[in-house]
Amino acid sequence: MSALANKKILLGITGGIAAYKSIELVRLLKKAGADVQVVLTEGAKAFVTPMTLQAVSGLPVRTSLLDVDAEAGMGHIELAKWADLILIAPASADFIARQTQGMANDLLSTLCLATTADIWLAPAMNQAMWSHPATQDNIKLLLQRGIKLIGPDSGDQACGDVGYGRMSEPAAIFNAIEQSQKEAQPLLGQHWLITAGPTMEAIDPVRFISNHSSGKMGYALANVAQSLGAKVSLVSGPVAVKASTEVELHPVKSALDMLDKCREIAADNQPDVFIGAAAVADFRLKDVASQKMKKQAGSDEMQLTLVKNPDIIATMVSEQQAKFVVGFAAETQNLLAYAKDKLTRKGLDLIIANDVSRSDIGFNQDQNQVTVVGKDQTWTPEQAAKTELAKYLVTLIQSQYQAH
Ligand code: C5P
Repeated sequence: MSALANKKILLGITGGIAAYKSIELVRLLKKAGADVQVVLTEGAKAFVTPMTLQAVSGLPVRTSLLDVDAEAGMGHIELAKWADLILIAPASADFIARQTQGMANDLLSTLCLATTADIWLAPAMNQAMWSHPATQDNIKLLLQRGIKLIGPDSGDQACGDVGYGRMSEPAAIFNAIEQSQKEAQPLLGQHWLITAGPTMEAIDPVRFISNHSSGKMGYALANVAQSLGAKVSLVSGPVAVKASTEVELHPVKSALDMLDKCREIAADNQPDVFIGAAAVADFRLKDVASQKMKKQAGSDEMQLTLVKNPDIIATMVSEQQAKFVVGFAAETQNLLAYAKDKLTRKGLDLIIANDVSRSDIGFNQDQNQVTVVGKDQTWTPEQAAKTELAKYLVTLIQSQYQAH
């Protein structure tokens, strides 16, 4: 699978003879599985037609900032947010100059100003225009701002000159972008199955036993793994947090449901990594009442009989459902000793231990401090926000999985 599969690429074409090469570029991006939205500047329309680009991209081409019909579909700010990446090929000297000034006087320049996505430029112009100090200063400034450059190449130019200014070939532009996406997505091709949140064990149709788990840590891990390219299946008990839309969310309630769902997902596509971040209830009701339980007249006590829930993570290990298994150990004392014991007893590859006796971290908090325990090594990252810690943990899990 290409690193560009399912990526949303906004391809801006500005005025220049090299615009005809962008038709081939769209074809390469589409073949790799990317969604390509083409935006033409006024100048570009003198070289290529919206009709041609619509045919190759499969989407109506956008050309104007003040197009009422197009804005009624995806408005320009929405379009700027839609893009995972903006590629301008060819990028004319004029467009580059407008970029440096932060102009927003047409659709494409406005999109570049409104986006938070990476912007790539493939310049194309006459060699004298390219080497002019004005253009060179503009390019320097754009590079400082983090804009990425592909080319230009040197060679024969349409105007008869020879020198730097030719747009890079479509295949070279495609390769540069694909390579950058590959590097940004080290988990591409991997499947991560993560459990998160509490489980909810029914007592009767209106009551249940549960715990304080917010799901924040598991969801943060899922979002990070997904952003690094993994396919992520998240099996979650009832929580208030949201996962990124690209994470495949499977809501469940009880521990039994959670185990069934994990087995079903693993049978369909064996996970590379399984992370048990859920706070699974150790016990469930032996018999769930089918009607709302009534107060017993004259009695101040009520007895509930509980039975043990299956250990989901230990089951995933014993059934060899995943290639690398990571658990959590929430402890109030003897953190490392208990975590090591759990690692061995449950047959885990890594365990992430945290002290839940501290009220400022862990359960239901945004911050966490953990110690990661492996078979013969431990890691203690600094206390951090769960979202930040998730980046550290996913990278560590990936490196230990690769070394495994
Ligand atoms: O034994 P303890 O509950 O402390 O173990 C915690 C780890 O085991 C966590 O990774 C948790 O998701 C997992 N677990 C499980 N099924 C259970 C209990 C815990 O998967 N029934």
